[in-house]
Amino acid sequence: MAELQRPDVRWHASFLSAMQEFRDEGRARPGSMLGEDLLEHGPTWSTPAGFAAYVAQVRREAVAPRDDFVPHTTWWWIDGGEYIGRIDLRHRLTERLREVGGHVGYDVRRSRRREGHATAMLAAVLPHARARGIADALLTCDVGNLASRRVIEANGGRLEDRRGAKLRFLVGTGQVTSPSGRPPWAAAHEDYGEGGTCHGLPSPPGGGGPAVRGAARSWRPGEGRGTGPGVGGWPGRTHRPESTP
Ligand SMILES: CC(C)(COP(=O)(O)OP(=O)(O)OC[C@H]1O[C@@H](n2cnc3c(N)ncnc32)[C@H](O)[C@@H]1OP(=O)(O)O)[C@@H](O)C(=O)NCCC(=O)NCCS
Repeated sequence: MAELQRPDVRWHASFLSAMQEFRDEGRARPGSMLGEDLLEHGPTWSTPAGFAAYVAQVRREAVAPRDDFVPHTTWWWIDGGEYIGRIDLRHRLTERLREVGGHVGYDVRRSRRREGHATAMLAAVLPHARARGIADALLTCDVGNLASRRVIEANGGRLEDRRGAKLRFLVGTGQVTSPSGRPPWAAAHEDYGEGGTCHGLPSPPGGGGPAVRGAARSWRPGEGRGTGPGVGGWPGRTHRPESTP
């Protein structure tokens, strides 16, 4: 079963083949986190040392983001050792991100699309947003990006408005239900800023969201979570919009 994992050198080969798929569809261009990474870091990925340095930097961005970024956590979606895609959670919004970008951005490698991965990946990240105090995540997508829109709506996203070529949605991340006022799984989220993985993270009340490849499809939007605003976008950068092909 696919799961969130913090970036790690273990998936080097699979990561490289996925990045080639993104290159082949023309994603190596400015305007998205993935595109920027392909351009800026891609040439370093082929060697173990270069890839390790990249992984370390991505993990560091949760606490020490590069210029123009807000702190953001990146996970990779791993299925049986295969890199399927990536998803980022921005820890806070700027004025610009409130307009375009939002809290969450994601990409799935072309060869594994339409299997429910993005839907499941977003569902898996919402509890992390909740643990960071984000009750309603803001997600944005291009008006014509039907796939992304369906991913957001499958996770309970409610259309807020349209601003130019972008749709803005709010996705509820759920309710705090424990007597202490903290969800029982919150502690698991609190120390993974730079390290750790989400592996083994307890599921939120009501389940961990949609599964993929049929089984996961037994999940229904909104189960285990409240409704409300949610978000999408590309991770971290404060002044540049997400590009959605
Ligand atoms: C958007 C993206 C992440 C979707 O990933 P995915 O794993 O294929 O998404 P899912 O399999 O969870 O599909 C979600 C829904 O969209 C539908 N869908 C997927 N691709 C579609 C397409 N090209 N056209 C229309 N609908 C599509 C699926 O059928 C599914 O609908 P359903 O739940 O009613 O069956 C992927 O297409 C991608 O990486 N695109 C490029 C980057 C991008 O646009 N990121 C989002 C930025 S906001």
